[in-house]
Amino acid sequence: MSLTGLFLCTFLIVHMSGNLALLKNDGGRSFNEYAKFMTSFPPIKVVSYVTYFFILLHTVQGLMITLQNRKSRPVKYAVTKPAGASLASRNMAVLGTVILLFLIGHLSQFWFRMKMGTLNMVDYNGVAHTNLYEAVTLAFSNPLIVILYLIALVALGFHLLHGFQSAFRTLGLTHSKYTPIINTVGWVFTAIVIGGFAIQPLFVMFKSMG
Ligand code: HEM
Repeated sequence: MSLTGLFLCTFLIVHMSGNLALLKNDGGRSFNEYAKFMTSFPPIKVVSYVTYFFILLHTVQGLMITLQNRKSRPVKYAVTKPAGASLASRNMAVLGTVILLFLIGHLSQFWFRMKMGTLNMVDYNGVAHTNLYEAVTLAFSNPLIVILYLIALVALGFHLLHGFQSAFRTLGLTHSKYTPIINTVGWVFTAIVIGGFAIQPLFVMFKSMG
């Protein structure tokens, strides 16, 4: 889980940074050009397939660990708050499920429609591009969708916070000197990823309100 999780962390930072092109005031050209590059450049397409596979693997691994934990402790503890376990660490499965539900909605909203060719196209210098900017700005003009994105991002934040620290512990990196550094890096990483993603729907929504 730690290795698939750390790979998915890399995907998140790349996806978040690239999508910041949404904030450019160029009618969506940079965003659409970036999306075309990411979805058609062969080496990146290969990385995309690895990402889909790792999302599935990470989900199945999480499910198996949760079921195993339940099986080894069929009678629940009377007190369910083990000392030292944070709220996030005790709810990784719930947080993961919220993220999975978000992903199903997110992918059907943009990725699936792009793959099906049902989105509008736009021409830049005679080259056709899927107008993902139009689809994204239309979606984020709806405050309800923005709220759902923000809820999913809070869940992702807690999941990352615990997951990041837990991944390094699983890989054997526990040391009185390094653990505080890893925890700080985990906090900074989570703040950058969640802050960077959250700004996108909020920016588009406020822009659409004029
Ligand atoms: C909140 C801002 C976000 C925006 C504006 C956004 C936008 C998009 C768009 C337009 C696509 C389709 C084009 C493409 O494949 O690059 C996409 C794909 C995707 N998004 Fe997002 N996304 C956001 C957040 C997230 C989050 C938080 C996650 C994960 C929890 C995520 C996971 C994915 C995945 C796995 C794909 C498929 C990537 C691929 O095909 O390689 N996105 N996103």
